[in-house]
Amino acid sequence: MPKAWIQERKRDYYYRKAKEEKYRSRATYKLFQAVKKYRFIRKGDVVVDLGAAPGGWIQAARKIVGSKGFVLGVDVKHIEPFSERNVKTIIADITEEDTPQQILKLIPRKADVVISDAAPNISGIWEVDHARQIDLAQQALKIALETLKPHGNFFVKVFQGDMLNDFIAKVKKHFETVKIIKPEASRARSSEIFVLGMRLKTED
Ligand SMILES: C[S@@+](CC[C@H](N)C(=O)[O-])C[C@H]1O[C@@H](n2cnc3c(N)ncnc32)[C@H](O)[C@@H]1O
Repeated sequence: MPKAWIQERKRDYYYRKAKEEKYRSRATYKLFQAVKKYRFIRKGDVVVDLGAAPGGWIQAARKIVGSKGFVLGVDVKHIEPFSERNVKTIIADITEEDTPQQILKLIPRKADVVISDAAPNISGIWEVDHARQIDLAQQALKIALETLKPHGNFFVKVFQGDMLNDFIAKVKKHFETVKIIKPEASRARSSEIFVLGMRLKTED
């Protein structure tokens, strides 16, 4: 890791806050801030978190849903287990065909909310990273459509770029309200933003 990067991280407010408050990532605050504003996760909800390692969003979601809700974290990487009985994790690839079925077998009922902070390995080539990120977001949308209950919510990370508008149009096709969010905890110079689809449309 470059020295300058390590120093910047140490100075970072949300990085230090996460350490102090025992959250596994600074990203935790992005989810808290977005939910505080739009209330798309509620007490008692079933939440599926895609690209969940090391587990900061899982911790935030568990805090919001409480003991009567349920949180499933999915990642290609191992996630250190949680002690709460209503938090489960699986190792799975969100681009694999059978992942939605695996998820449906593990959650107590169809999900109220699907969230995804999944991110590709950054190549540094902007167009490549944007395309890979949009691809992961499309996979997350596909999983959301298969695992969400009617009127469920979807929250996903994307990078800004020329493929973003097409992706937003797809989310609009399936959700009644769509918001574009840049939480305060997301670094201003990062091109990441979040797309929130609220109330999955029903067939009729
Ligand atoms: C930014 S991290 C998520 C951080 C997490 N929200 C937190 O607060 O701890 C992105 C994650 O996406 C995961 N990921 C990337 N591609 C994936 C895929 N195809 N399937 C599942 N997980 C994936 C990575 O392994 C990585 O752990």
